[in-house]
Amino acid sequence: MPDANDSGQSKDYGIGIPQKPDVFFLKGSGNLDWGMKDRLARIFSPKSGRTVMLAFDHGYIMGPTTGLERMDLTIVPLIPHADCLMCTRGALRQIVPAASGKPIALRASAGSTVLTELNDECVIDVEESVRLNASLMAVMVAVGSKFEALTIRNLTRLVDMGNRYGIATLGVTAVGKELTRDARYLSLASRICAENGAHVVKTYYCEEGFEKVTASCPVPIVIAGGKKLPELDALRMAYQAVEQGAAGVDMGRNVFQADDPVAMIQAVRAVVHDGERPEKAFELYKTLEARKP
Ligand code: R5P
Repeated sequence: MPDANDSGQSKDYGIGIPQKPDVFFLKGSGNLDWGMKDRLARIFSPKSGRTVMLAFDHGYIMGPTTGLERMDLTIVPLIPHADCLMCTRGALRQIVPAASGKPIALRASAGSTVLTELNDECVIDVEESVRLNASLMAVMVAVGSKFEALTIRNLTRLVDMGNRYGIATLGVTAVGKELTRDARYLSLASRICAENGAHVVKTYYCEEGFEKVTASCPVPIVIAGGKKLPELDALRMAYQAVEQGAAGVDMGRNVFQADDPVAMIQAVRAVVHDGERPEKAFELYKTLEARKP
């Protein structure tokens, strides 16, 4: 039983030493609640401020995408090398080992496929995100498309629900056939996501003016990899993106469709977390690939 009069030992109140305020390392995130910061700090390294997210949610609109036909065989070996897993609730329950210990960016919007019209979506029940212990909920935002209003409402709803439970929201800027993937559009779409409450934005890299996209977005940006590129080109894109202000990548096809996906994700990590130049990271890729049995 505790001693009502305390133990009589002397106490140390640290008089004269001011308590240091906690300065959170992610931009635009300083005023978030503790639970949300904790979840974000599992995704983004507090040391580098960056992340290598592995995206394999493509099947929700594309079916068995090349490289994802057997996710148990192709994705599971990549999990130890990823900082965060972006996937659907189906894939999570079906193939991701519950003991993997990785934060989850849960695909939280759905509703259409490549066979119909993309982005005509609704959002999943936030309780499902709580049940699955998601750290981030990903929602498509199709600025400038005919589904603009619907997808911004979806973002707003997820942000409202996520704020209630301390789960952050990832606004994914959709790029339709009618929209140009240039800095003007990407900065518009990214800023609209952030202003509507997204805690992180996923968008594409563009060769011209990408630093304006990151500078004008008040929350961290991660880039999608897009279609498969030669490995060195994909590493160059990741390098340029982080050099120009991205807080990392949320990469799918350029990892799981690489000749050696396990080597590729490690090379991407070298670029994102260690600032390795793309040519050196490509050397690492070739070395790891050569070791493959
Ligand atoms: C797109 O809607 C999905 O969120 C994908 O996960 C995303 O595009 C990232 O994959 P990739 O690097 O293959 O573009």
